[in-house]
Formats: sequence, structure tokens, C-alpha cells
Amino acid sequence: MPEPARGPATTAISEDACRLDAVSRRFGRDGAHVTALDRVSLRLKRGTFAAVMGPSGSGKSTLLHCAAGLDRPDAGEVYLGDTRLTNLSESESARLRRNRIGFVFQSFNLLPTLTVRQNVALPFRLAGIRPARGRIDEVLDRVGLAGRARHRPGELSGGQQQRVAIARALAPQPDVIFADEPTGALDLRAAGEILRLLRHAVDGSGQSVVMVTHDPSAASYADRVLILADGRIVDDLERTDAARISARLARLETDR
Ligand SMILES: Nc1ncnc2c1ncn2[C@@H]1O[C@H](COP(=O)(O)OP(=O)(O)OP(=O)(O)O)[C@@H](O)[C@H]1O
Ligand SMILES: [Mg+2]
Repeated sequence: MPEPARGPATTAISEDACRLDAVSRRFGRDGAHVTALDRVSLRLKRGTFAAVMGPSGSGKSTLLHCAAGLDRPDAGEVYLGDTRLTNLSESESARLRRNRIGFVFQSFNLLPTLTVRQNVALPFRLAGIRPARGRIDEVLDRVGLAGRARHRPGELSGGQQQRVAIARALAPQPDVIFADEPTGALDLRAAGEILRLLRHAVDGSGQSVVMVTHDPSAASYADRVLILADGRIVDDLERTDAARISARLARLETDR
């Protein structure tokens, strides 16, 4: 029998940077379990900056960890582009995270004994590959830390340390950057710098960003604001201002 013709539809690269289909994640056993994510479905187009908001314990970090392949859902499927994460082996998943995903955490997670440059080069060292010539300098320049390459994290302010973490996430040119409250420990000005860098990753480089935040003004940098409550997405707003986001979150409190 002849092979069916393969049209563009079967070979096209997914338009989605990431996709979750009915993802559930439960913690604990039998009597005392918590449903952190309850059949969450989500499609995020490439080149989108999404903010994830919601009350403490609503499942934001769990969503990020499952989407990034750091945690496995109990049910449902997770895709990064065309790659299904939910059936990868642990080593395949680790390789994919190194090559196609960047992470930024609230607490920076830099290695204190390494210099700024060594921290930014770490993903390459772990992957056993040499960065393209000038790549590390280029990202350090982009985050405004070209003059700090030989310093150690302890010699930098919180905002500068977070910019090192952003540079480290950007250096391998990942498809998606996941950030869990990246501005949570920063003052307004330092937070603004981080948000503009994330916005630039989307507008300037076509990458995608998924950022958890409690701060409506941080979320106002995003193209989409997803609101979680009790492990479900209860709202999905187009880019909007901080006042509208605050009002929506306040309504969530009264609805509970
Ligand atoms: N490793 C774990 N073991 C047990 N329960 C967990 C674990 N991780 C998360 N949970 C539970 O899952 C639920 C969702 O947690 P999650 O960390 O995703 O919330 P969050 O929205 O990120 O909250 P926060 O805003 O406080 O960071 C919570 O009830 C939490 O206690
Ligand atoms: Mg969290």
C-alpha cells in the first residue's frame, strides 16, 4: 500500500511553545492528598509572554515545574513545541531542559564560589559544549553586567544577581524561559529591569516566557495573564493593566 502523502500539516513545527493537556498533579497519599493541579489544559503560542497568578497554594509553581519537565504529572500530557515531555526518560528530559528551557528562580540560585562569567557559562559546562565565541560576553552585556564578569554573586546586589540568573537562562538561547517569582525579592527598580529583559527575550528574540508572579504590575508586562485557583485555570486575560489585574484577583478572593 502506498504511504499516505505527508502534507505540511504533519511536518509543520508546532505553533505552540508549550502545551498542557488535562494535566493533574496530586501530592501525598490516600486520605491526605492535595490536588495541586486539576486537569489543567493550556496552549501557549510561540513568542508569548505569559504571567501565572493566583493565591498561595493555588498550584502556580507546580504548573511551572510540570510544564518545564522538572516534575511529572500524574495524568495528562505536556509538550514543549512538538516534543512530548511526559514519555521522556529522565536523561532525555534533563537534556531537553538543558537545551531548550531556561529557568529563573526567586532566590537567584547562583553558585556563590563561581564568578559571574562562570555562572553564566554553567549550562554549557554541564552540557559539555563550548559556547559560541563571544556568547557569554554578549548576554552579560545585554543584562548590563559586562563590567562584573569576574565578580562573585556575593559582591552584587539582589537585582544584579537576578540579572546574572537571567543571563544564564538566556545564554543557551532556549525556546522557553520559565521564571518563578523572579522579581519577588527585588525592589521596584530592579524588578523593572528584570521584566524588561524578559519582555525583550520575547519581542527581540521570539522566545517565550512563562512567569509566576504575585505582583499585578509585573503581570502587566505579559501578553496573557492566567489566573489559577485551587489547581484550575479560572481566568485567562489578554494583556492588561495592573489595576484590572488587581481587580480580578480581588474578585477571586470574594468568590471563594
Ligand atoms: N512536593 C510537594 N509535596 C507535597 N505537597 C506539595 C508539594 N509541592 C506542592 N504541594 C502542594 O500543592 C499545592 C500547590 O503548591 P504550589 O507550590 O504549586 O503553590 P503556589 O501557587 O506556587 O503557591 P505560592 O504562591 O505560595 O508559591 C499546595 O497545597 C502545596 O502544599
Ligand atoms: Mg510557588
